[in-house]
Amino acid sequence: MDSNKLEECKNFIFQLIEESSAVMKAKCGRVTTETKASRIDFVTEADRAVEKLLFEKIRQRFPDHRLIGEESFEGKVDFTDDPTWIIDPIDGTTNFVHSFPFTCTSIALTVNKTVVLGVIAAPFLDKVYHAVKGGGSYCNGEKISVRSCDSLEDALVITEMGSNRSEEFLNLYLKNLASILWKCHGHRSLGSAALNCCMLASGHVDCYFEFGLRCWDMAAGALIIQEAGGRVIDPDGDPFNIMRRRILATGNPMLATELSKKLSKMSFPFDD
Ligand code: IPD
Ligand code: CA
Repeated sequence: MDSNKLEECKNFIFQLIEESSAVMKAKCGRVTTETKASRIDFVTEADRAVEKLLFEKIRQRFPDHRLIGEESFEGKVDFTDDPTWIIDPIDGTTNFVHSFPFTCTSIALTVNKTVVLGVIAAPFLDKVYHAVKGGGSYCNGEKISVRSCDSLEDALVITEMGSNRSEEFLNLYLKNLASILWKCHGHRSLGSAALNCCMLASGHVDCYFEFGLRCWDMAAGALIIQEAGGRVIDPDGDPFNIMRRRILATGNPMLATELSKKLSKMSFPFDD
């Protein structure tokens, strides 16, 4: 995709998130929930409404592009080299249900399976984060960059448990938390993978790792971190794969290496 077309995609999404953010604002605090994979894996009418809006408008404008979205996911995604939009209509649905303001819409565009555009709009924080591959990362139009913390001893860390409540997963989460807590400055969990990525990209935290994510949770955020100067890898130390359901991201590559050695890992069936 040439740079003019990419710019067209970016401008189009910037207009579209004004509409999706308006839907989120109108529906917040008045939602009824249903559950999906577990007792606390929520979906609301607003998640579906935002995904429908985004799908319809993107289809109209770019009929040859493919779409992947959290609410239309059916067990596996068909991920190809074609231009593909990967969408989380509301990331941080639990926050949305509780009107905790860390909730957002996350939109990524991939070409040849590489993320080339990422936009994360957080209407209750009045923030829009974005990155175009090779063009840096921005928050509300201002350039952002990671903080260069090279050791866990000086780090503020984000990690999350998500909505998986299996014993194996809980044990992994608690084991990793125990192994870092005694050493780092502190840990946080914001309830939105996409906004966790933005906090790292903005230099507010030094590290973010999580297991069990889906491609729509992390596609846009991973590019925003990379374009802000951060390192994004698979927790095993392998190259990052948006379909592998795991992320380890840091401002400084030395911290990524340290954590990759330290963390216990769990594998999942890929999203594709
Ligand atoms: C969740 C959030 C949360 C993360 C979970 C995700 P959702 O997405 O990103 O921070 O810990 O793993 O499932 O369900 O709110 O779109
Ligand atoms: Ca999500």
